[in-house]
Amino acid sequence: MKADALVLFGATGDLAKKKLFPALYDLEDLGELDVKIFGVASSKWTQEVFKENVEQAVRARKPEVDEAALGKLLGEMQLIVGDYEDPQTFVALAEAIKDFKLPVIYLAIAPEYFARITEALAMVGITRRARVVVEKPFGRDLESAKALDAELKKLLPEEQIYRIDHYLGKEAVEDLLVFRFANTLFEPVWNRNYVSNIQVTMAENFGIDGRGKFYDGVGATRDVLQNHLLQVLTMLTMEPPIDMGSEAMQNEKIKVLSAIRDINKNDVVRGQFEGYLDEDGVAENSDTETFVAMKLFIDNWRWAGVPIYLRTGKKMPETVLEVIVEFKQPPRALFGAAASNQVRFRLGAKDGVDLSLQAKKPGTKLVTETVDLSVEFVAEFGDRQGPYERLLRASMLGDHFRFTRIDAVLHSWQILEDLLKNPNPVVQYEAGTWGPEAAQALVPGGWAPVGNAADQLKNLQK
Ligand code: BG6
Repeated sequence: MKADALVLFGATGDLAKKKLFPALYDLEDLGELDVKIFGVASSKWTQEVFKENVEQAVRARKPEVDEAALGKLLGEMQLIVGDYEDPQTFVALAEAIKDFKLPVIYLAIAPEYFARITEALAMVGITRRARVVVEKPFGRDLESAKALDAELKKLLPEEQIYRIDHYLGKEAVEDLLVFRFANTLFEPVWNRNYVSNIQVTMAENFGIDGRGKFYDGVGATRDVLQNHLLQVLTMLTMEPPIDMGSEAMQNEKIKVLSAIRDINKNDVVRGQFEGYLDEDGVAENSDTETFVAMKLFIDNWRWAGVPIYLRTGKKMPETVLEVIVEFKQPPRALFGAAASNQVRFRLGAKDGVDLSLQAKKPGTKLVTETVDLSVEFVAEFGDRQGPYERLLRASMLGDHFRFTRIDAVLHSWQILEDLLKNPNPVVQYEAGTWGPEAAQALVPGGWAPVGNAADQLKNLQK
């Protein structure tokens, strides 16, 4: 059933400004947002100031704005000001939404408030008929995630909880499934017999952007590896689900996550960019990692023995989200030096796929040269929908497909449990580099070039 109201906690916050308001505008522009929107925040803004901020947030992120759609969006919005600790805030909210049958409550707030606010919502009877959307991170390790789940489950069943990992809203991440299971060409070779290794890189060329207080208590492993990177890995390696229903999909994810072998500490490198300790909100002598790289194995029939490398970091040479699946070389090198095929998934900006092949180099000799078959999705299909637009829509329609089920969240924490409890020491790295040197050494022969470096190499080969 479709929701008839959206309640947004954290309505004056950063996530709302940068992601949620522009996404709501997109839905409005498509004519898909016929709901009333209630912002809740403790900042004492007037309705006018709130709407001005929403308007600015939309205009800042949309090059062209449809004035009628923006006007309609602003007309649907109302701010409820109140302290989250004050029961009166929830009484006022309950009164404001009493005529709505199925509100979606979006908690765009610090995780320590998830349980408290849900409890306050339950006290005024809202949870009986609401869907509750919680942002990541869901807990900070296995134990706290279990505890948070137990608290929420006292108030809400799993079907009413929507756990966000915005990577599951990215079209390019979803395309991994389509690429694998809609193309007969690839599925037969997508296994240990043909794949030599997999490399996943999520790099950002910026630092912690004023989020020191939040980030220092979290670090790269909890902030993005436990969720975004493991989700990407799951999409790349899971078995085909029996159908595209949410449960079938989640079941396959669990299977592959539970086959990940305990990670060897020698296969993990934690790094911290030089200058991190001078950032606002960061503790003196903090050993929080802003970079992490690791090698892991999936001990199942399909992937046994195939090394899988994950890395993520802040202040890297560029912002890039890419996966490289490298295939084994042919059994004999008939044409000079052998080179392997690669599939490179570009999942961030300019998303698309490159398939590198060997072709005969022009001339008298029978030697090969690498050529790429490339596709850029925007060029093929036009603009893609943003992740928050897709996740807001799904939560309002009650579709769990793009959200994480609790057992998957717990499995992801389980995989990292030892590393989080007994972390390797952090190694400093210079900003603008690919992290500590030890991370380079994790991959025999080094990481395959990604982003601009890969594009430059491609151009050189032309
Ligand atoms: C967020 C992290 O979940 O994802 C941020 O908290 C990170 O630290 C961001 O920068 C990256 O998202 P995207 O969509 O820009 O790759």
